[in-house]
Amino acid sequence: MSTVVIPAYAKINWVLRVVGRRPDGYHELDTVFQTVSLCDVLSITPTDDGEIRLTCDHPGLAADGTNLVERAAHDLRAAAGVSSGAIIHLEKKIPMGAGLGGGSGDAGATLLALNALWRAGASPETLWTIAARLGADVPFFLSGGTARGTGRGDVIEPMPDVHAPHLLLVNPGIEVPTARVFRHLSAGLTSEKPERILPACSFSPGDGLPASLTNDLEETVFALFPPVEAVWRKTRALGARAVRMSGSGATIFAVFDSESARARAQADLATHGWSVWACRAVSRKEYLAGFEALSNPT
Ligand code: C5P
Repeated sequence: MSTVVIPAYAKINWVLRVVGRRPDGYHELDTVFQTVSLCDVLSITPTDDGEIRLTCDHPGLAADGTNLVERAAHDLRAAAGVSSGAIIHLEKKIPMGAGLGGGSGDAGATLLALNALWRAGASPETLWTIAARLGADVPFFLSGGTARGTGRGDVIEPMPDVHAPHLLLVNPGIEVPTARVFRHLSAGLTSEKPERILPACSFSPGDGLPASLTNDLEETVFALFPPVEAVWRKTRALGARAVRMSGSGATIFAVFDSESARARAQADLATHGWSVWACRAVSRKEYLAGFEALSNPT
């Protein structure tokens, strides 16, 4: 069978509210996810030998059965009862420990792509169950676009797409461990119960991007990882409409009103030795179109 090449997009969080702690040790979130055009690239060759073989261009990523891409493929094969296999090459462009859902996006894209290529016929519910087991951010990548995430961030409700063509992502080159951030934040939370202890998310993208975006993890991450705050401060001084941290960091995103304003800021930020990516919001239609095309080859 021939090889298909699929982008596995990154995400940012327009809003991230931590609502409380859960008995399972996770945190109750109210977040608004957005797929963006920075992406890893998956090259997938379906086979009929039942084997899942992964290679990756990133030396730091294990292809020993523990990678989320391999786990997604194995779990789908088991759940759907198919005997197919796949040779998968993963080209990493999304930095890790960056709050951009890199590993989660790879896993979500793998599930959608293999479900189509294998004609596995897994239902949306089955895909969700596999995705949620792989990680709290993975279910979002079964729909993409703009979507609200509640529960652990894994209960997904698609929202009208936010139009954001002029984004910058800025990363100071450090990896932030998500679990550590939540542990530190927890120490400051007053409620043990999964109750709303902070105002719920009020975000209506139908009205355009709200002026004030929020991320409840920023204060904790800035205290633990000063370079992330340095990026945030510098980016804020460059005329963006909004500047926020994505997920648990270390990436800061900025929303600009024009290509020229973004280009000026990008040139300035690059002088600090940080990684800077120009990108745009990817709509749900665009996100899903690539996978739908795999089910209906022309
Ligand atoms: O689900 P995932 O493995 O991506 O989450 C990484 C870590 O982040 C979890 O082990 C947990 O410590 C923390 N987390 C959390 N509440 C969430 C999501 C993640 O406490 N809603």
